[in-house]
Amino acid sequence: MSEVNLFLPNIADGEDKHSIIKNRIRKNYRHIRKWAKRTQTDCFRIYDREIPQYPLAIDFYSGRFCVQYFSRQRGQEEPTSDLVTEIETVLISLFATTRESIYWRTRAKRKETRQYEKMNRSKEFFTVYEYGVKFKVNLRDYLDTGLFLDHRETRQFVASHAKGKRVLNLFAYTCSFSVHAAVAGAIFTKSVDLSNTYTAWGRENLLLNALSLKNHEIIRADCLTFLDEEIRSKTQYDLIVIDPPTISRSKKMQQLFDIQVDYIELIIKALKLLSKEGMIVFSTNSRHFVFENSYFPSCSIRDISEKTLPLDFHDPKIHRCWIITH
Ligand SMILES: C[S@@+](CC[C@H](N)C(=O)[O-])C[C@H]1O[C@@H](n2cnc3c(N)ncnc32)[C@H](O)[C@@H]1O
Repeated sequence: MSEVNLFLPNIADGEDKHSIIKNRIRKNYRHIRKWAKRTQTDCFRIYDREIPQYPLAIDFYSGRFCVQYFSRQRGQEEPTSDLVTEIETVLISLFATTRESIYWRTRAKRKETRQYEKMNRSKEFFTVYEYGVKFKVNLRDYLDTGLFLDHRETRQFVASHAKGKRVLNLFAYTCSFSVHAAVAGAIFTKSVDLSNTYTAWGRENLLLNALSLKNHEIIRADCLTFLDEEIRSKTQYDLIVIDPPTISRSKKMQQLFDIQVDYIELIIKALKLLSKEGMIVFSTNSRHFVFENSYFPSCSIRDISEKTLPLDFHDPKIHRCWIITH
């Protein structure tokens, strides 16, 4: 593996009698930094809505900060300017950073913008490390950053099963599952996503880790259509990752995709591509999703949600995850 240049500034211990949020962020960061150094990771959550009067999630991405505000009141979708100033002052003082390194995301902005659509054009990409693997992220231009931090342990789980395997990654986004699987020794990966932007980003993530595009294919397609074609070609996979959006509507797709309806067809089709000893890793961020085992009577199904919750995330419902085998 190439040299790992983690950015994990050391911050002094201490206590501020006037700021509980500052004390909490300091404590969280100092705690996770030890783990991060050991695991060659420099992107993680440093605050996760732990104090009710600060309804925020703050993610550290190699010296930059992504702050999400969760409105508690209708009509108050944006954080107050006092809260913005307070949080920025805390981060600047703790990390000796600048205001330009702090990026705010609010639900209101997400609602205004169509799902997955571009918000800005800064092209401010930079590299972060997760378990020694490199990823390009962008905190300004898109609705999401390029790397969903809550799935760190799910990616690690996939990597730990990937050696010598053929891996299919559906709804691949920026191919983070494929990149981890490939670095861990998967002999072949195929990543499928509907978006031109994200398939291009995924290709860059593979190249960033010196992986060959010959053994690690990326396909721009609707996953359900792709599955039909792949079943006809009789291709088999040992590991299939399915991490779909909750709902998706796109001009490139004929119908609305709804996880609660479409997961059955997705899994039934994926099972046709799964080798005898193979494994499907299925996950969702939908809070209302119900997994009905009875649709897959001949399968063994295990819930690994708890096992895949990272140490820096406090909400056990941030995602749920199942393993499905024949
Ligand atoms: C929640 S993200 C997936 C996250 C990804 N699995 C990861 O771990 O980084 C949803 C992705 O699904 C893609 N998508 C939405 N509907 C799709 C469809 N019908 N077929 C293929 N990709 C789709 C979007 O372009 C987006 O990249």
